[in-house]
Amino acid sequence: MDPLAGPGGAAVTALLSRTGARVERLPLSRFTTLGVGGEAEVWFVESHEQLAEAMEQPYRILGGGSNLVIADEGVPERVIRLSGPLAERDLTPDPALSDDTWVVTGWVGGGVPLPGLIRQLQKLGLSGLEGTVGIPAQVGGAVWMNAGTRYGEMFDGLHTLEIVTPEGTRQVTPDDLNWGYRDSGIPRNHIVTRVRLRLRRAAPEEVLAKMDFADQARKGQPKMKTPGCAFKNPGGVSAGKLIDEAGLKGSRVGNALIAPEHANFIVNLGGASAADVHALLALIRDRVPVPMELEYELWPAPGNA
Ligand code: FAD
Ligand code: EPU
Repeated sequence: MDPLAGPGGAAVTALLSRTGARVERLPLSRFTTLGVGGEAEVWFVESHEQLAEAMEQPYRILGGGSNLVIADEGVPERVIRLSGPLAERDLTPDPALSDDTWVVTGWVGGGVPLPGLIRQLQKLGLSGLEGTVGIPAQVGGAVWMNAGTRYGEMFDGLHTLEIVTPEGTRQVTPDDLNWGYRDSGIPRNHIVTRVRLRLRRAAPEEVLAKMDFADQARKGQPKMKTPGCAFKNPGGVSAGKLIDEAGLKGSRVGNALIAPEHANFIVNLGGASAADVHALLALIRDRVPVPMELEYELWPAPGNA
């Protein structure tokens, strides 16, 4: 019996773990941009010690929840959320590694929300990550996916990554990883706890102009609850265009809809279930003649419930 589940599985008040992490049974829908997902035991970890304890049992790591389709039954594993100091940032230039052109910052926690970080970098006149404007991720999740747009991606601005696994903590550089489009090369459940950024000094107005330009590409994206694009672009072709050409815009299952604005976005009309989204993904796979890799992450993976 899960000690955090009350009668009928209802949430009970938060507990503190052995090392002081706050542990609470919560609906994951609260943490996802799709607004779907049942309950799990959420561990809010604020230190490496608390993280190590959370990782003693099967776990998943939750970032901004902006790429997740979580089952209505929730997940049985511990769900780790980086909080406190692991969601703080030190953007002070490291004098040993910075010069008139380049800045290497202090540590930026994996739990830092990316949109606020991008705005702050713009004000400081630090350029390199502005192509990721509008991505509603946390830094750790965005690094793990190498989130980006055609105007830039996370690996454009990384100097060092700290990665924690049950075996220990290590620091790597982008050159140590086999990264590419929407892929960091970091295995699943290896946790990006913090990164140091490597950015170019620029006028704040110049950075702002680049952000505005990249943001223009989002004008046609839906504004409703969604986990963003469902499929990666195969061979650089827009998956949205392919889904659109298959005549699937506006297809609806339950309360999930293939967005009329952009066919690679599935939106929640209100009260959608994970099964509704899965059915639309199956429809797309069935109708689009080109093989496409899923960008959304399904918790749990189908067939693995
Ligand atoms: P989550 O959705 O919480 O998790 C995604 C994966 O990352 C999971 O496997 C999770 O375990 C893992 N993860 C999370 N945190 C960590 C961590 N600290 N260490 C290791 N692994 C971790 N994506 C783009 O690339 N480009 C876009 O332009 C874009 N636009 C979007 C627009 C909207 C409106 C929305 C809702 C989404 C968009 N996305 C886009 C998708 C999404 O924002 C990215 O995939 C992002 O990288 C997900 O990060 P997250 O922190 O929300 O991770
Ligand atoms: N198009 C259609 N119909 C559609 C959607 C797109 O014809 O339903 C056409 C557009 O008219 C345009 C072309 O396809 O000519 C490209 O469309 P868009 O500019 O929207 O780019 P995309 O390749 O579909 C990618 C990323 C987005 C990112 C945008 C903007 C992927 C899978 N998608 O979309 O990333 O925001 O570029 O840079 O790489 C995400 O990954 O979650 C995501 C939202």
